[in-house]
Amino acid sequence: MSLLIAGSIATDHLMSFGGKFADSLVVEQLDKLSVSFLVEDLDIRRGGCAGNICFGLAQLGLRPVLVGSAGEDFGDYRSWLEKHGVDCDSVRISEDLHTARFVCTTDATMAQFASFYPGAMSEARLIELAPIAERVGEPTFVLVGPDDPQGMVSHTQECRQRGYDFIADPSQQLAFGEGEMIRELVDGAAYLFSNEYESHLIESKTGWTADEILERVGTQVITLGPDGVRIVGRDQEKIEVPAVPNVAAVEPTGVGDAFRSGFLAALEWQLSHERAAQVGCVLAAYVVEQVGTQEYTFTHEQFVARLTDAYGEAAAADVRPHLLAS
Ligand SMILES: Nc1ncnc2c1ncn2[C@@H]1O[C@H](COP(=O)(O)OP(=O)(O)OP(=O)(O)O)[C@@H](O)[C@H]1O
Ligand SMILES: [Mg+2]
Repeated sequence: MSLLIAGSIATDHLMSFGGKFADSLVVEQLDKLSVSFLVEDLDIRRGGCAGNICFGLAQLGLRPVLVGSAGEDFGDYRSWLEKHGVDCDSVRISEDLHTARFVCTTDATMAQFASFYPGAMSEARLIELAPIAERVGEPTFVLVGPDDPQGMVSHTQECRQRGYDFIADPSQQLAFGEGEMIRELVDGAAYLFSNEYESHLIESKTGWTADEILERVGTQVITLGPDGVRIVGRDQEKIEVPAVPNVAAVEPTGVGDAFRSGFLAALEWQLSHERAAQVGCVLAAYVVEQVGTQEYTFTHEQFVARLTDAYGEAAAADVRPHLLAS
């Protein structure tokens, strides 16, 4: 059995400028705009939703399979993920495009100049899941995360054709997709993940009511930021799990991905949805306390201790055998 995580693989290149961009812009000369800023630092962070989710799963002792498209420059990132236990053997390497990159410069007033280069990500549509499943074994789930839109659609269609259970996780791509594409991504998913804002976006874009969505997906998992998570499903009671208390939030980037890692790990351990949400919330708490999406560390003892503090001994008792045995 295997867990296939399809989605973006990207790096963020973040620079900070000590002054104010506005001081360098001459409003009357905007048609001849050409400015350059001497920045103070450059921070390069590994990211992309699929990279982040795989990293989190591997931190919990699983061996997820990263499915995505990167460039020849993927080498360092690959080594990092492999060192942490992620199977990168099915990452497609583009012959002529670089790995997706977000480049952003922020000034002292938090004004930003940013660009996103999708690059090799746009070749995700060329990836076929069947040969991957042949290599690693029939997937328990294929998560279809934000990626090249055509790639997301083709992965979802392939899952339906081959009968792989899939998890729809369109998140940031919802803003750009049309209703028909989003219906295609969601229909028939075993799980649909989103935050609360995105859950409304899914309803408005698909034209389906909340109940109609539930008729099409097994279970819908809606994260509520510091308020935790709500799980609703066709033939199940609504579950609400609070977030981990007393978290010193530093930077939220990547919390959603970390939550998914924890949730999926618990599904692989065949725990209940309530436990899955709790494991997800604990992993998300680690991420929100760090700058960067793959910078957190913990021992499995610490993870179980934190789960015990937040959700009690019964939760810990279910999770402990999986973590402290791995
Ligand atoms: N301030 C916080 N304190 C504790 N836990 C948090 C906090 N913010 C988020 N979380 C945890 O992270 C989970 C996911 O958060 P959220 O709903 O904000 O995801 P998201 O909007 O997809 O985030 P992003 O897309 O920025 O990664 C929540 O269910 C919660 O468990
Ligand atoms: Mg999100």
